[in-house]
Amino acid sequence: MAIRIRGIGTALPERIVTNDDLSRVMDTSDEWIRARAGIGSRHVDGITSEMAIEAGANALKAADISPADIELLILCTTTPDQTFPATSAVVQSSLGLGCGAFDVNAVCAGFAYGYVAAYGMMVAPTGPDRVLLIGSDSMSSITDWTDRGTAILFGDGAAAVVMERHVQGEMLAFDLGADGNLASILYCDHDAKIQMEGREVFKKAVRAVTRSVENVLEKAGIGADDVDVVLPHQANIRIIEAVCQRLGIPMEKTHNVLETTGNTSGASIPLAMARAEADGALAPGRIVLMSGFGAGMAWGSVVVRW
Ligand code: COA
Repeated sequence: MAIRIRGIGTALPERIVTNDDLSRVMDTSDEWIRARAGIGSRHVDGITSEMAIEAGANALKAADISPADIELLILCTTTPDQTFPATSAVVQSSLGLGCGAFDVNAVCAGFAYGYVAAYGMMVAPTGPDRVLLIGSDSMSSITDWTDRGTAILFGDGAAAVVMERHVQGEMLAFDLGADGNLASILYCDHDAKIQMEGREVFKKAVRAVTRSVENVLEKAGIGADDVDVVLPHQANIRIIEAVCQRLGIPMEKTHNVLETTGNTSGASIPLAMARAEADGALAPGRIVLMSGFGAGMAWGSVVVRW
C-alpha cells in the first residue's frame, strides 16, 4: 500500500509588501535582499486559520472529494490563532469535516514532520484512508517590522494536500531530526517577535539539511542523481543553492516560490509542491525529495516515489 497526493490547494493573503516598500521604512534595498536571500516580495496580514481554511477548501476541490471523505486533519503551524484550542479544530469545523484534528509545531520543518505523521497513521491498521494535511503560517504577525535582519525574510501563506491510500505514492524513507542546543539562535517568545542570529542559522541550516538529505537518500537506497524533483524549504535561495551544490543536485530540479512569498514556514514546502505541480514536474514514478529546517533547530527530509 502507498499514499498518493490527490489534490493540492494554496492560499496567499491579498496584501503584498515589496522590497521597495521595506526600503522606505528601514535601511535596506531591493538589490541587497534579492542578492542575499532571493526574495522580492511577501504576502502579509494573513490569519492562520483563514488561510488554512481557504487552502484546505482548494485542496478538496482539486481532489474532487467532499469534506465527509476526510478522516483526519493535521495542521502544521507555528503561529496558531490562540494558545488553545488548536487552530486545526477551528479549521476542521469551518471546512465541514467530521474527523479528528491536531496541530503540529515543528516550525519550518513542520510539513515534513506532518507528512511523516500522516503517512504513518494511514498505513497503520484501521488508519484513515484520506488525510487533509495543511501548512499555514502568519509569520507577519510575529515579525518585528523594524528589524531588517528578519523582516526581509518572512511572509504569510498556506498550502494543503489531500493524502489518499493508493497503489502509488510510496514513501521510500524519511529522516527527522532536532537539536535543542541550538534553540537560542532562532526563537519567538509568547507575545513577542522573532529573534534570529541570521548568519549562524544560515551555516547550521546548510549543514543540517545536507546531512539530512544524505541520510534520507542512504536509507532509501538511492543516490542524489536519482532525485527528479526537489521541494526545498523556502527560506533563502542561497541556502538552497549551497545545499544543492554540496549534494551535486542541479538547481533546475528545485521548484521555488520564495521570490514572491518569502519564508512562509509550515506552508513553504507545500507551496513549492504546488509550484512543481504547476510546472508539470509531479508525474507518477518520479522521485520527489522534500526537505525542511528551522527553529529548534528541527529538520526533516522525505523521499517519495510519486
Ligand atoms: N539590508 C541591508 N544590509 C543588511 C541587511 C538588510 N536587510 N541585513 C543585514 N545587513 C548588513 C549587516 O549589517 C552587515 O553589515 P556589515 O558587514 O557592515 O556588518 C552585512 O549586511 C552582512 O550581514 P550578514 O548578517 O552577514 O548578512 P548575510 O549574508 O548572512 O545575510 C541573512 C543575512 C539574514 C539574509 C542570512 O544570514 C540568512 O538568510 N540566514 C538564514 C536565516 C533563515 O533562513 N532563517 C529562517 C530559518 S527557517
